[in-house]
Amino acid sequence: MKVLITGSTGRLGTEVAKLFPDALTPRRTELDASDRGSIYTYVAKEKPDVIIHLAALTGIPPCETNKELAWRTNVEGTMHLINACYENNKGCYFLYMSTPCVMDGKRGMYVETDIPNPENFYGLTKLLGEVVVLNHALKNRTVVRGNFVPKMKWPHPGAFTDRYGTYLFAPDLAKAIQEVVDARYTGMLHLVGQELLSMHQLAMLCPDSQDVKQMSYAEYLKNGGYRLTQNMSLDTIHKEWKRFRISK
Ligand SMILES: NC(=O)c1ccc[n+]([C@@H]2O[C@H](COP(=O)([O-])OP(=O)(O)OC[C@H]3O[C@@H](n4cnc5c(N)ncnc54)[C@H](OP(=O)(O)O)[C@@H]3O)[C@@H](O)[C@H]2O)c1
Repeated sequence: MKVLITGSTGRLGTEVAKLFPDALTPRRTELDASDRGSIYTYVAKEKPDVIIHLAALTGIPPCETNKELAWRTNVEGTMHLINACYENNKGCYFLYMSTPCVMDGKRGMYVETDIPNPENFYGLTKLLGEVVVLNHALKNRTVVRGNFVPKMKWPHPGAFTDRYGTYLFAPDLAKAIQEVVDARYTGMLHLVGQELLSMHQLAMLCPDSQDVKQMSYAEYLKNGGYRLTQNMSLDTIHKEWKRFRISK
């Protein structure tokens, strides 16, 4: 079975790649997710049986300041990848990694049936990627949403006390993704941790991060920050999948 992981150099991809040691993990020089020709050439050559699609232009500021690249990578790239996958192997299983940033973040604890309403361009592109995948003729496809950070020193001087998530660390989420792939789950699924945490509480669980300062969303907006999904917490209607915990 040939597994292809896109975005394998990223925060999540690094952990997912460890769990699929035989997977194809092309760098962007071999498979450029913003380039239709590169995607079709690579997929036609390798004809994977499973695609774990993690590559994306992530981060709110890069997507706001380079909307064209965000669109080409996150929306068109996902469309070309699933089309190429379908053309080369109709039995292929396709997993698309999405985000709670498709929600407006006013309420939190969103389930799979809640209606998205993104606050920023990143969220919009990830939402359109979801729509492409869920409405595709390829039968074996899934959209997974989750909150995660790498298990490493918090990379910023501060962390929000009033932005929330049901977080997992990247290795925990990678393990959950492996279970989804093994089960060949199809449809939409939230992979959630059991605890509602503020980002500051999350930072306190990260190694060497005890000096991270508290900050508020209002203060961040006042300083000119882009609009964010304030409450990113997710729940799931698929209770049998609500079994993951953040590793402390
Ligand atoms: N981080 C979060 O909080 C979060 C939460 C929920 C969902 N997600 C989703 O989870 C996935 C992984 O996120 P992450 O935080 O691990 O991302 P990340 O650390 O920013 O890594 C992004 C990955 O995508 C690759 N990539 C970007 N543009 C590409 C292109 N044009 N062609 C090929 N590869 C390209 C990068 O490759 P290079 O090494 O070449 O740059 C890198 O491997 C994304 O789909 C993201 O939307 C993220």
